[in-house]
Amino acid sequence: MNPAALPSVRVRAPGKINLFLGVGGRHDDGYHALATVFQAVSLTEDVVATAAPGFHLTVEGAADTESVPTDDRNLAMRAAKLLASATGYEGGVHLAVHKSVPVAGGMGGGSADAAAALVACDALWGTGLSIARLHELAARLGADVPFALHGGTAVGTGRGDVLTPALARGRLDWVLVPSDEGMSTPAVYGRLDAHRDEEGALADDPPLSLDVPPAVLQALRAGDPHVLADELHNDLQVAALLERPDLQTVIDEGVAAGALRGIVSGSGPTVALLCEGPGIAARVRERLGASGRRALHVHGPVPGARVIG
Ligand code: C5P
Repeated sequence: MNPAALPSVRVRAPGKINLFLGVGGRHDDGYHALATVFQAVSLTEDVVATAAPGFHLTVEGAADTESVPTDDRNLAMRAAKLLASATGYEGGVHLAVHKSVPVAGGMGGGSADAAAALVACDALWGTGLSIARLHELAARLGADVPFALHGGTAVGTGRGDVLTPALARGRLDWVLVPSDEGMSTPAVYGRLDAHRDEEGALADDPPLSLDVPPAVLQALRAGDPHVLADELHNDLQVAALLERPDLQTVIDEGVAAGALRGIVSGSGPTVALLCEGPGIAARVRERLGASGRRALHVHGPVPGARVIG
């Protein structure tokens, strides 16, 4: 049979930026308490699920894909197998992952693949899970996977997986500067813990429950990028900069090129530069490009994982 004739489903899921990321203490399971605001942006992953007897996965795309595993270490593969075991589905799937989100870039690309795989397999296999049930499976796969399902702008607490939609007015324009080499998320969290121990950065032990400051949510509601620029914050940035001090130069160059503010996205190393609007973002991207930086103009918020085509 011609493989093109086999039933297949294409799902698109967004990468994310953490506009605010507060990191608290470490729980016994190794995860840190978080209070974060996610925004889904227009840099997306596509996963095409095609009916197959077993489980297979291929990866392609503009991002550096050689380092991405295609076996059970791949979160999209784990998502498909988790859905099959949760629903008793006995067939398999071929997953073709088309990557645009930087690999190990702090933008949740792997989590987007997992969310897309859940939605794609659910549609392909006709397992018909509710959003609540998909969310539950997503949270078992990783702390950022529920947000990739959800999309938009949302507050994440717990491990980052307990989501509340945030009221955000208007669109935000971002210029992203990816790095050629990714960074390990657990290593960046580990560095933050070590740094806090060394510096005694917090007088008390880091809290095991924390909130997003009201000023961040107000700035989002107001929809004014100037106000929001002052509220952008990432507790992991200090740890990412210890490993990659050059990221500060990227942030400074972005601001010199016209961005309102720059932060490290999640655990890094991608730098996210908030701009006043689309025209300025286009200019910032152009100026960074002219000085030899790879830079992308994206916007948010965009929807979560959804079937397209
Ligand atoms: O859940 P996910 O696989 O995305 O997390 C990757 C790693 O990031 C975890 O293994 C953990 O080391 C770290 N992490 C954390 N606390 C969180 C989320 C992630 O320590 N809330």
